[in-house]
Amino acid sequence: MRTFYIETFGCQMNAHDSEKVIGTLLSQGYQQVAKPDQADLVLYNTCSIRDKAEQKVFHRLQEFKKEHGKGKLFGVLGCVAQQEGERIFERAPHVSLVAGSASYAKLPQMLVQLESGTRRVTGLSLDNDQAFETPFTQRDNPHRAYITIIEGCDKSCAYCVVPFTRGPERSRTSQSILNEARELARMGYLEIQLLGQNVNSYRDPSPAGWDFARLLRAMGEVDGIRRVRFTTSHPRDFVKDIIDAIDENPVLCNHVHLPVQSGSSSVLARMQRLYTRDEYMRRIDWMKQARRNISITTDIIVGFPGETEEDFEHTLALLDEVQYDSLFSFKYSRRPNTAALELGDHIAEDEKSRRLAILQEKQRAIQIRRNSELVGTVDEAFVEGYNQATRQWIGRTTQNRTLNFIHPQQPEPREDATLAGTAWRVRVTRAGPNSLAGEAVI
Ligand code: 5AD
Ligand code: SF4
Repeated sequence: MRTFYIETFGCQMNAHDSEKVIGTLLSQGYQQVAKPDQADLVLYNTCSIRDKAEQKVFHRLQEFKKEHGKGKLFGVLGCVAQQEGERIFERAPHVSLVAGSASYAKLPQMLVQLESGTRRVTGLSLDNDQAFETPFTQRDNPHRAYITIIEGCDKSCAYCVVPFTRGPERSRTSQSILNEARELARMGYLEIQLLGQNVNSYRDPSPAGWDFARLLRAMGEVDGIRRVRFTTSHPRDFVKDIIDAIDENPVLCNHVHLPVQSGSSSVLARMQRLYTRDEYMRRIDWMKQARRNISITTDIIVGFPGETEEDFEHTLALLDEVQYDSLFSFKYSRRPNTAALELGDHIAEDEKSRRLAILQEKQRAIQIRRNSELVGTVDEAFVEGYNQATRQWIGRTTQNRTLNFIHPQQPEPREDATLAGTAWRVRVTRAGPNSLAGEAVI
């Protein structure tokens, strides 16, 4: 029996790609092992969104260089593979497989080539008009499942490497997405997360021609599925109908991750984001006016070329105005092939760090205040597991908040009984900046 080890970096798309890669390998007779030194084949599914992420895979490859002599095969998958291509063989000569996500459908053939002793196997074509579909997905979480609805990205944000690493947009048919959802429901999954670099630009390639809101409504009707989430959205393609769909059906989670990147319209223009601050705020207003209480989160980049102190102040003011429940913030990182490379005027690293720290401090204060307002309220938590250290069940609300709680009748998991995969009404008793804690209401 041949064995493989896989380590995954990056976003949920990558995590889900790995689930499909693992399923494919298992179906080809491989066995997964937990440590690289036990494996015949060591795979890294990589991310290149920022330079730091990209460097991780080269560190890993460095660590295992010495293993080369022991007959192991090494493969680099994902975004760094697509971006660096055959250059990886030069930097790390012990690597024998380099494949980007648009080539995973060919993985079985690539494995055969590897096994027959081909030293350098590549899957680097982006010339692919189909999303990767496989019956062999090995899902990691028994209650929440990812479904890819669209792959690739047709936007050209000036800082972003994704169009180069994941290629042009390819939507799956609504029929195949719904079939997958029904199958997951049959298998007992309660929650589905729809994935895509830009789910809002989903367009059903079959004659039905559904847009994203139509698909979302249909997902909310799948028997047995109790929560549907989606990520990630692009403000330009985010239409009000999506909010209307969420308003109509509580199965659709009341959380929207709407990356803004900057609060300054002039930075947004240079980023080629295709919306102004005002246009973004209009989408925020739709959410605030919705009947349901929609949680809003975002991504922000500080130190984009030419970002002035005033631009940055606009971003800080945006945080005050929107009152996000959470945000991911990053220092701008130059990426190969991207348009922003042309925009000289690089902001010093310590200035980026200063802005990042100010931004995060401001957001932390907002979250502490917003979360503390929830003390005393009752919300529904889906149980994801148990934290031995805190002796709490790990729960998540429809708004995607972590709500850990104690359960008087079942304080801990027993051999024959766990609360994982069940839902409880929980009274919030404590609030921190990043999570809530409470007690089940029995
Ligand atoms: N530098 C810093 N952050 C980036 N992101 C994307 N590209 C870059 C880059 N070159 C951030 C954006 C995006 C998130 C996934 O990563 O905020 O929304
Ligand atoms: Fe990283 Fe972007 Fe690739 Fe996801 S799509 S793995 S975030 S580079």
